[in-house]
Parts: sequence; structure tokens; C-alpha cells
Amino acid sequence: MSTHIGATPDQIAPYVLMPGDPYRARWIAETFLEDPVQYNDVRGMLGYTGTYQGVRISAQGSGMGQPSIAIYAHELFTEYDVEAVIRVGSCGGLSDKVKVRDVVLGVAASTDSAMNVPRFRHVNYAPAADFDLLRLAAEVAEERLLPVIAGGLYSADQFYNPDPEVTSTLADYGVLGVEMEAAALYTLAAQFSRRALALCTVSDHLLTGEETSAMERQESFEDMIVVALESVVR
Ligand code: ADE
Repeated sequence: MSTHIGATPDQIAPYVLMPGDPYRARWIAETFLEDPVQYNDVRGMLGYTGTYQGVRISAQGSGMGQPSIAIYAHELFTEYDVEAVIRVGSCGGLSDKVKVRDVVLGVAASTDSAMNVPRFRHVNYAPAADFDLLRLAAEVAEERLLPVIAGGLYSADQFYNPDPEVTSTLADYGVLGVEMEAAALYTLAAQFSRRALALCTVSDHLLTGEETSAMERQESFEDMIVVALESVVR
């Protein structure tokens, strides 16, 4: 057991899909994995392991925000020897290049968080996705004609009241969506020489005010999970 995950090391697979919402972890396990076994319910942050096309895969909730995902990613990398984490979440669209229901493949994650200041001091480190995972995800999505677009993410510390001047400037610099976790995940994967990718369905749009219905969110979430799982088994 680690501090926040009540599993023995052999109970967690080398590849982990990580939604923010722990109930999504349960849904992924029950919908896509064969013989899923729940290995964690500490703090309600559900985690499951099963198989997909014969490959062991885990689904573990991360909670919201960089401090929360950092706790789980850190323990997965250091105490469970996890090789790769794919975040499967949502983001708010900030660019006219994306529309709701698109899936953003997060090439890199800018952030307003101070989490990396103690690591890099005055240097603004650029947290980036694993290139092979990113390439595989793009290939899978292209073959299945799923609406994905690769670009930057903005990992914000606050959900409410984003500064429109900042989000507009970020959009001018190729950032497609705002979410709250990718930068910490990418940084930790780099720290421990592991791999990470963030896939985010666009659930709402800051420019148009558009929001997805519960049904649309579910469908685009399913598309994204297929991309994540197929990328792992390839
Ligand atoms: N996740 C989904 N939509 C978001 C938004 N608008 N801001 C931050 N995170 C999000």
C-alpha cells in the first residue's frame, strides 16, 4: 500500500487510464475491461485493474487539480512502477480551432500554477507529452475517423473566472483547451522517466459559451477511451 492507494504493487497494471472523476474510473473498468477488480477506495478515489484485448490495464481516478493528480501519479510511478499514465478528462475550448465534442491530444501543458517553482526556480519548464503515445493516439483516432486535434493545453489552478485576455493570448499561441491537471502529470512523468499523455474532450467552450449535453459528453468520452485503450495495446 502507498499512502493514498490501498493496493499491493502487483494489483496495478503498467498502463493506467486516469480520469479526474473516480466514478469514471469505475465506468471505464465496467464498460471496457474484462474481469475488472477494484483495488482502491481510499478517499473514494476508485481504482480498478482488468484486461483489454488481453493486456492488463488499470483505471484510476485522479481528483481535480494538479496537487491531487500529483499525489496519485507520484505514487503510481514510484511505488507501483507504472510505465505510462493516460489522463482521460475534459477541457474547456479556448480556441476557434476546436469545437465541443472534439478530443484534444495535449502536446504540452502551460500552467499558472506555482507547483514547479521549487523544482526549476526562475525557469519556466515546458511539460510535454510522450511523443510515442501521442503519435499512437493520433494514428488510432485517424483510422477510426474520430475528431481529434493535437495542440497545447492550459492547466489552470482555478476553474472559475479565467482571465479572457490570458486565454485569448494562449489561443493565439496554439493552446486549444483549459483543464486542470496535465502539467503536473507531464512533469512527474519526466521526473521519473515514465510516459504520459492527456486526452481531453471539449466539454464546454469559452468563446461560444456552448456546452455539451450529458449524452454528448458520454459519447465523446467513449470515443476518447477507445483511443486511449487502443494506443496502449498497439
Ligand atoms: N474542464 C472542463 N471544462 C473546463 C473549464 N472550462 N475550465 C477548466 N477545466 C475544465
